[in-house]
Amino acid sequence: MLDLPYTFELNAPGFVPTRYDNHIKRTLTSMKGQYHDISAYEAMLAEGDALLYEVYELARPHESGEVLHGISIVHPGKVGDEYYMTKGHFHTVLETAEIYVCLAGQGVMVMETPEGDWAVEALTPGRVLYVPPRWAHRSVNTGAADLITFFAYPGHAGHDYGTIEQQGFRKLMVERDGLPEIVDNPRWGKGG
Ligand code: PA5
Ligand code: NI
Repeated sequence: MLDLPYTFELNAPGFVPTRYDNHIKRTLTSMKGQYHDISAYEAMLAEGDALLYEVYELARPHESGEVLHGISIVHPGKVGDEYYMTKGHFHTVLETAEIYVCLAGQGVMVMETPEGDWAVEALTPGRVLYVPPRWAHRSVNTGAADLITFFAYPGHAGHDYGTIEQQGFRKLMVERDGLPEIVDNPRWGKGG
C-alpha cells in the first residue's frame, strides 16, 4: 500500500469516489431474514436477486490508529412496505464510534444500543451524523433516489453482523400512506 497522504473527489451526482480499493455489492440474498414481510421477500427474489446497496471502500489497515472510510449507496425501493436498507451492525469493539456525512438522497439511520436505547435520525444532503460508541447502525433509504453517505470509523472497530441477524433492530422503517413511519419490529425480543 502506498502510505502517503492522498486525496480523492466525491463528485455529484453519483459520488463514486475517484479512488477506491473495494467495491462491495449487497443483493437481496444477503438480506435473507431481515425484511419482516417474508412472502414479499420471496416473491421479489423469484424475480431476481436485486441490488440493494453498494459500498466503495478505501483500504486501510484494521488498526486502532487508522480511520476506515468510504461511500455507502443505498438504492431506492422496498421489500413489501419496508424500505431498502443496509444489513446494519454493532462494531465488534463496541466502544468505537462512526461519522456519517449525507451527500445525496433522503433516508434515516436506525440505531440502538445493547442497553435498550434506540434512535432514528434523518439523513439529508449536507447533514452530519455522529454515531457514538455502542450504537448499532443501519442506513435506510426512504426516498426515491440513491441515499449516498460518506462514513469514517476507527480501524480496529470491526463489524458484528451476527447480533442484528438474529432478530433485527428494535424498530423498522415502513411506508404508511405514502410516508415513512417507525414501527416496532415484531421479531424483536422473540428469541429470533
Ligand atoms: O461502517 C459502516 O457502518 C458502513 O460503512 C457500512 O458498513 C455500510 O453502510 C454498509 O452497511 P453494512 O456494513 O451494515 O452492510
Ligand atoms: Ni459501522
